[in-house]
Amino acid sequence: MKEKIVIITGANSGIGKAAALKFATEGFRVVMGCRNMELSRVVQMELIQASNNKNVDLLELDVSSFDSIHAFCGAFMKKYPRLDILIHNAAYLNHGEKEYKLSPEHIELTFATNAFGPFLMTRLLTEHLETSEDPRVLHACTTNIKHFFDPKRKIDFDNLRGEFRGVRTFSVYKMYGDSKMALLMLSFRLAEELKDQGIKVNALQINRVKLSKETIQKMSPLWKVLARAQNLINPLPASMADNYFHICTSDEFKNVTGQLINHRRECVQPSTSEKGIAQLKNIFGSNRYPSYAVDTQNIDRIWNLSNALTEG
Ligand SMILES: NC(=O)c1ccc[n+]([C@@H]2O[C@H](COP(=O)([O-])OP(=O)(O)OC[C@H]3O[C@@H](n4cnc5c(N)ncnc54)[C@H](OP(=O)(O)O)[C@@H]3O)[C@@H](O)[C@H]2O)c1
Repeated sequence: MKEKIVIITGANSGIGKAAALKFATEGFRVVMGCRNMELSRVVQMELIQASNNKNVDLLELDVSSFDSIHAFCGAFMKKYPRLDILIHNAAYLNHGEKEYKLSPEHIELTFATNAFGPFLMTRLLTEHLETSEDPRVLHACTTNIKHFFDPKRKIDFDNLRGEFRGVRTFSVYKMYGDSKMALLMLSFRLAEELKDQGIKVNALQINRVKLSKETIQKMSPLWKVLARAQNLINPLPASMADNYFHICTSDEFKNVTGQLINHRRECVQPSTSEKGIAQLKNIFGSNRYPSYAVDTQNIDRIWNLSNALTEG
């Protein structure tokens, strides 16, 4: 069997690190795409030791920066003959953040990191993915998108460069949920666009996983207490890492594309009713996602914007 090559973004902590360990243990060549090189080098050595696989590489990547993405993809394509699996795991969610932050390209930081950055990376790596016999792309989504079951909830397309930062209050969870909804819609459209090249694109609806100590370390004191309390009941990242692995390698998902997959590895369907009992089932279950995500106008809007912002 040819050695398979997988890129995992944000592989230095949490689910990304657990996934890197899983792939390395199974004999894959793992390329960690990380921004904090000092810390990530230590993690890389830890992964090599724990997996007994020396093929764990590290390339610098800041997913919020288009320049960094171009540099990462250029270096990757020069070094590796193809790409088999691309896992967009890195995300920005700064619990308790009250201020708008902008990326180097002056895009709201959550959107730059969680939606436009992954879109640009997939675009730049498409030819390398095409070279694989079974190329698969996976996006880390979240149950937070359930807020879109509320018919009033919409992505504020007019504020993705922080245009209203002096006027509209910054809500970290709204911005995070909006960016993950955008990522889901981009998954659906990318799956269509890349179907003829044999590239499968799916998203995983992550429900809850223990937060890493590195992530908790970045929080304010109050959020630290809350996160540690939640961690008492949440499952370990390894369980979700196993889902990454299964979706990206198993025969079961070999021909699956354009799907949102839940933590039980079932394909989630768009909701058909967002009222009454059906709506309660939507909110408390994990088998339906908001119809907002399949509205072609919404998809066109995020698709066109992603193309416009990342071209050039
Ligand atoms: N944990 C959960 O309960 C949960 C629930 C729903 C969805 N998810 C999703 O699952 C994925 C992994 O979550 P996690 O809990 O494992 O998170 P985590 O431990 O906080 O890890 C996030 C990773 O993303 C990296 N990252 C953030 N911004 C980056 C950037 N601009 N460039 C490169 N890397 C960047 C971080 O690197 P640094 O160390 O440099 O910051 C870190 O390695 C995320 O997409 C998240 O939205 C998680």
